[in-house]
Amino acid sequence: MTFSHTSCLGGGVIGASWAALFLASGKSVSLYDPAADSDKSVKAYIETAWPTLERLGLAEKGNPDNITFCQSAAEAVEGADFIQENVPERIAIKHATFADIEPALKEGAIVASSASGLTLSQMQDGWQNPSHFVLGHPFNPPHLIPLVEVLGNDKTAEGVVEGARAFYESIGKITIRLNKEKNGHVANRLQAAIWREAISLVAEGVASVEDVDKAVWAGPGLRWATMGPTGLFHLGAGAGGLPSFLDHFTDTFNGWWDDLGQIYLNDEIKQKITDGMSQSAQGKSVEELAKKRDAMLVAIQEATRPLRD
Ligand SMILES: NC(=O)c1ccc[n+]([C@@H]2O[C@H](COP(=O)([O-])OP(=O)(O)OC[C@H]3O[C@@H](n4cnc5c(N)ncnc54)[C@H](O)[C@@H]3O)[C@@H](O)[C@H]2O)c1
Repeated sequence: MTFSHTSCLGGGVIGASWAALFLASGKSVSLYDPAADSDKSVKAYIETAWPTLERLGLAEKGNPDNITFCQSAAEAVEGADFIQENVPERIAIKHATFADIEPALKEGAIVASSASGLTLSQMQDGWQNPSHFVLGHPFNPPHLIPLVEVLGNDKTAEGVVEGARAFYESIGKITIRLNKEKNGHVANRLQAAIWREAISLVAEGVASVEDVDKAVWAGPGLRWATMGPTGLFHLGAGAGGLPSFLDHFTDTFNGWWDDLGQIYLNDEIKQKITDGMSQSAQGKSVEELAKKRDAMLVAIQEATRPLRD
């Protein structure tokens, strides 16, 4: 399937970003969002995202005006080859949306949900036939961060997960396949694990919020943008690769793991990290910091894209 016509259901933070990327990739987009003026906010988002997409070389085939705003979810999916669902993370809204669109879908169309917290099987209950429905979980913002986590299960028809991955990869995404359902999928669990230890170090008084954050972005974070943790440790003990690394460091890691913090967020911890973050921000607004983050994200992608395999 060529996936030339796409649909976005929901045009909030995630839906608008997906729409911008689909348009940039030369797809037409039909979008449904019931919020007043959502057409204006989605258009404004696309306008802001477009120069970045051009800079990253992702908009060569695209036309930012190739978008239609629809009056219902059923109308928005008519004739679409690929549908990305981004409605609020509430199971009742997801189920109502699936019930609306199911009779209107084009034969063979693939529907992917952006859901972060709901599981595929919870969402499948909203379908008569979920065979062409998968999880397609992006990392915010989808037009800028390449990762998409894709999951199907025994109710998913053969070839549908592969079709979704082929679509995403054709528009510049990097996909991973989840072999089974897991709360938080993969990437958010990894973030949660790192953040837990970061907070624990602050709570124990080992270092400030600013310094723990620095220890991530100026150290391993920079390396993680090139390879994952296991790939990096394969390079961590010379020519012997991972077996040699494991020979050297098994006891060290097992010892560290025994000692990792098991902290939970409570009022006291929340106050401590909020105060630490205020100091770390040094008076800069959230908007200013977000601009800096986005500029650095674009610069990293721009520099590293040509070096990827
Ligand atoms: N925000 C993130 O960082 C992030 C990251 C990855 C995945 N997600 C997932 O993406 C999905 C959307 O999240 P978001 O952050 O964009 O939320 P959001 O609140 O920014 O956007 C949701 C949009 O859906 C619209 N909407 C409400 N009812 C609707 C309906 N019946 N049909 C169509 N649209 C409807 C709302 O008007 C709103 O514009 C969620 O499932 C969330 O878990 C979010």
